[in-house]
Amino acid sequence: GAPVEVNISKVEPGQLLRVVWRGKPVWVVNRTDEMLANLPANDANLRDPASAVLEQQPAYTQNAHRSRQPKYLVLVGICTHLGCSPSYRPEVAPEDLGADWKGGWYCPCHGSRFDLAGRVYKNVPAATNLVVPPHYFKDDATLLIG
Ligand code: FES
Repeated sequence: GAPVEVNISKVEPGQLLRVVWRGKPVWVVNRTDEMLANLPANDANLRDPASAVLEQQPAYTQNAHRSRQPKYLVLVGICTHLGCSPSYRPEVAPEDLGADWKGGWYCPCHGSRFDLAGRVYKNVPAATNLVVPPHYFKDDATLLIG
């Protein structure tokens, strides 16, 4: 099918925009500088910090931010354990999500946790990072998914 065109000009820093691509939920997050700066410090808590599992993202997002442009993260919003919908929990260190929590997504079904690059934590049921769908930027305000 044709790519889905998304206007990202109104997505504020820290905000998550929900869209649908091929019947799947897709999230677009405009990450703040602080969110990006916190990513490397989280590597030791993660199962696949370097995005080594090739199927989970296009090659052009196999980098420290898992994105084309550092701030815009694009993810398929489906838990890689059994397909539930993880909740966006961008706040750092809420006490219910663990001392190592740096913000990200929490799956209410079985407790999987993912950071603000969609990278899976160790010791949770999900084994792989959230999927980054193919995407590119047509211009500063327009994202194409697919
Ligand atoms: Fe998300 Fe099981 S479906 S933790």
